Amino acid sequence: MHHESDRTVVLTGGTGFLGTFLLSGLLERGYHVTVLGRSSKSLSLSDRLSGIVRWLGTNPEARLSAVEADFSKNHLGLDETTYRHLCASAGKIIHCASDTSFSERDRKRVMQTNVNSLSVLLAFAADTLVDHLYYISSAYACGRCEGICLETPIANDSFTNVYEESKAQAERIIRLRCKDCGIPLSILRPSIVYGHSETGMALNFNALYYVIRSLLYIRDIFIKDIAAHGGERSKKWGFQLDDAGILYMPLDIYLPSGGTVNLIPVDYFVDSTISIMEHAGMDGIYHLTNDHPPDMSTLIEYTQRFLRLRGVRAICDISQKTTPNPAEELFDHFIDPYRPYLSDRRTFDRSRTKTVPGCIDSPPLTYEVFERCMAYALASNWGKAVGFPK
Ligand SMILES: NC(=O)c1ccc[n+]([C@@H]2O[C@H](COP(=O)([O-])OP(=O)(O)OC[C@H]3O[C@@H](n4cnc5c(N)ncnc54)[C@H](OP(=O)(O)O)[C@@H]3O)[C@@H](O)[C@H]2O)c1
Repeated sequence: MHHESDRTVVLTGGTGFLGTFLLSGLLERGYHVTVLGRSSKSLSLSDRLSGIVRWLGTNPEARLSAVEADFSKNHLGLDETTYRHLCASAGKIIHCASDTSFSERDRKRVMQTNVNSLSVLLAFAADTLVDHLYYISSAYACGRCEGICLETPIANDSFTNVYEESKAQAERIIRLRCKDCGIPLSILRPSIVYGHSETGMALNFNALYYVIRSLLYIRDIFIKDIAAHGGERSKKWGFQLDDAGILYMPLDIYLPSGGTVNLIPVDYFVDSTISIMEHAGMDGIYHLTNDHPPDMSTLIEYTQRFLRLRGVRAICDISQKTTPNPAEELFDHFIDPYRPYLSDRRTFDRSRTKTVPGCIDSPPLTYEVFERCMAYALASNWGKAVGFPK
């Protein structure tokens, strides 16, 4: 038998990519969810959430509530009555809010959101009779390392970017504080998340999408050149449009380490997270990753088919590398922040995750799933027109 607190969740990040799908998954399974979040420029949090659940086709009935909170202020910036009421009703807390910028320019903001504001959230967890805190971390909180990444605390202090660094620091702080206060904690570490494998829907279009979007952008520059100027410049670099409308675009992506791209669909993230909530033990670190991730050559093959391109290759041998053409220069510049994740030789151990009933393997990224996700990305203009007001 379930206790009422088992079905009551306070969720942060419920307006973001992973959070919206998780919110919908929780509501569909009968949970009562209170989203702690913020208004946008033009909409209250409550109106934002109404748009989100409509978009996802979920009927929340009376099980969804919104509390506008400020994670940088004592008691989440709430008045005493609202704060006490929230503390009394919180069963489980899922902390999914995060600043996901990789940019060093955003260091102050990333650290403020992901690390400094934890003290307020953790004080809230300690003030409630919370059954369990779930922290949505990242597989890449492990930082720069090689070989097998275990479902254990992070011991590394070398990171690819400020985002990884902030997620590792957050894990450390949360673990220590939860241990001190006796709060049961689980840390969930997804790898790179793409859209829903059955509907293609997504909300954020970075990482995998950014690579495809960059190739699309470059393709269109050359197609335009061929259409408008007879393609004199394009021909100089060997670019050609054939009679079937397929562009030959010689573009080598130099990835010296080879390796793979660890991708999971958002529905796998939601199902695994809820399975862990419902079936896992009291504490633990879980890798929500793919045991059979695709490599860049597979993703290039899919992209070429989808964008009607030829000539793009992943190369790892320096002897194959030639002076970059303008398309290669542009592409290198675009994907620079994501490069380490495109040729990853690490594997993520999932021994603990696999013991949880329902935490099956991530479904494979087939061409059909890829096509569905990219078609959705194009139809929604890479998130600018997702079909609900932001
Ligand atoms: N997407 C992935 O591929 C991926 C992979 C691994 C791990 N993760 C982790 O999964 C979680 C969700 O990521 P996501 O991709 O869904 O991110 P996202 O789409 O950028 O959403 C971020 C969420 O955090 C909220 N947020 C950001 N800064 C905030 C602040 N200062 N105060 C209050 N709320 C704030 C946002 O609220 P607003 O809507 O109001 O801005 C939004 O709800 C993060 O913890 C991330 O580290 C994501």
